[in-house]
Amino acid sequence: MPDHEKRVLLREKDLPKAWYNLLADFPEPLPPPIHPATKQPIDPRDLERIFAAELVRQEISSDRWIEIPEEVRRIYAIWRPTPLVRARNLEKALGTPARIYFKDESHSPPGSHKPNTAVAQAYYNKIEGIRCLSTETGAGQWGSSLAFACSFFGMECKVFMVKVSYHQKPYRRSMMHVWGASVWPSPSPETDCGRAILERDPECPGSLGIAISEAVEVALKSDDTHYTLGSVLNHVMLHQSVIGLEAEQQMKEAGDFPDVVIGCVGGGSNFAGLAFPFLRHKIAGKDIRFIAVEPKACPSLTRGEYRYDFGDTSMLTPLLKMHTLGHSFVPPGIHAGGLRYHGMAPMVSFAAKLGLIEATALYQRECFEAALTFARTEGVIPAPETSHAVRGAIIEALKCKETGEEKCILFNFSGHGICDLGSYDRYFAGELTDFELPQDNIRKALAELPQIG
Ligand SMILES: Cc1ncc(COP(=O)(O)O)c(C=O)c1O
Repeated sequence: MPDHEKRVLLREKDLPKAWYNLLADFPEPLPPPIHPATKQPIDPRDLERIFAAELVRQEISSDRWIEIPEEVRRIYAIWRPTPLVRARNLEKALGTPARIYFKDESHSPPGSHKPNTAVAQAYYNKIEGIRCLSTETGAGQWGSSLAFACSFFGMECKVFMVKVSYHQKPYRRSMMHVWGASVWPSPSPETDCGRAILERDPECPGSLGIAISEAVEVALKSDDTHYTLGSVLNHVMLHQSVIGLEAEQQMKEAGDFPDVVIGCVGGGSNFAGLAFPFLRHKIAGKDIRFIAVEPKACPSLTRGEYRYDFGDTSMLTPLLKMHTLGHSFVPPGIHAGGLRYHGMAPMVSFAAKLGLIEATALYQRECFEAALTFARTEGVIPAPETSHAVRGAIIEALKCKETGEEKCILFNFSGHGICDLGSYDRYFAGELTDFELPQDNIRKALAELPQIG
């Protein structure tokens, strides 16, 4: 890449025509979801009660490439391909010999990577005759993305938003309303499960696990409503691969290739989206490191166990083999609301178990500090979730400064923080605390897990 160039921009015609499915290239098969009652692998048809049939097919497909429908590509074209940016100002400020690139997923109208799967999920549900989609949201990025997607397909959208974020991020709520969705703070009085939790703990700050339970319950109770999940499941990882596939073309145009690929992880989808297309080169023998960055307050990959657990708090979902802190674990109310999930995508968990990726956990204040360094050099204000990837990239770049290595670092800039400025204000006011989880909290939640072979 010539010295004066900063961004690698693709044309609309370069938008990938197929998603990449890592399930085709794992050296061993991914452990299947298990039915909690029978303890046997789930019959995929059971999933069609709440998911579109095509999404269930994608969930279990081992096809390496799955075509992106033309209608989905047309909506992607509103903001895709997203830019790949060389963070030259950040490199200079750090004094590192490393080359740092970020894939800027903040360009979508809702401001993050989430619409990559929201549009696909809304499309498949629409063509299968579904009228309404229900979902949970943490920071509101996923809820606003689904609201955005539903508005294109004329579908109703019901969102259960984790209560702590509902109050911390009022503008995300407004965005959902702009795109026509209805939004409840979770736990809410709208569902049996929400009411039961509120009875036990009226002050419960909520968690993604609880909000998932509420959204699944709504879908189970209505024939024309399906549930959608913004992360964790295999089909979500598949749709997000559009990020890494574009980045691969862009790195090629830049005449470079990453030594290290970094992303923050909540449920794992933005990390997987960037990493998985590159991971196939690692599986084929190339030397690349992959680093998943999570918060110390919710460290499923670094301190959780790899075993079968429910995806939600009320034990409505199938059992997934994943890194988990236990479905009853309620993480502290950190500002990276989208990283407060007790589990981790089975595909990301499996990649970690196979030693294909590494994980690290960071405190929220060091991430906010890194976000400021980034905003003051590269200009864009990161979402609190994204700040974990920014900090992860800075740590690697500073290691290069020490060793003198000229590594190529690529990270996913999963979203902007324009609706998270309240969190920045609290950081400036010195009101943010760093949480280090007592081992006892994790041990207690893990003790409630079902025992599966
Ligand atoms: C900007 C942003 N980045 C990352 C995440 C974490 O989710 P995932 O791990 O699925 O990418 C979220 C979730 O809401 C988010 O909003």
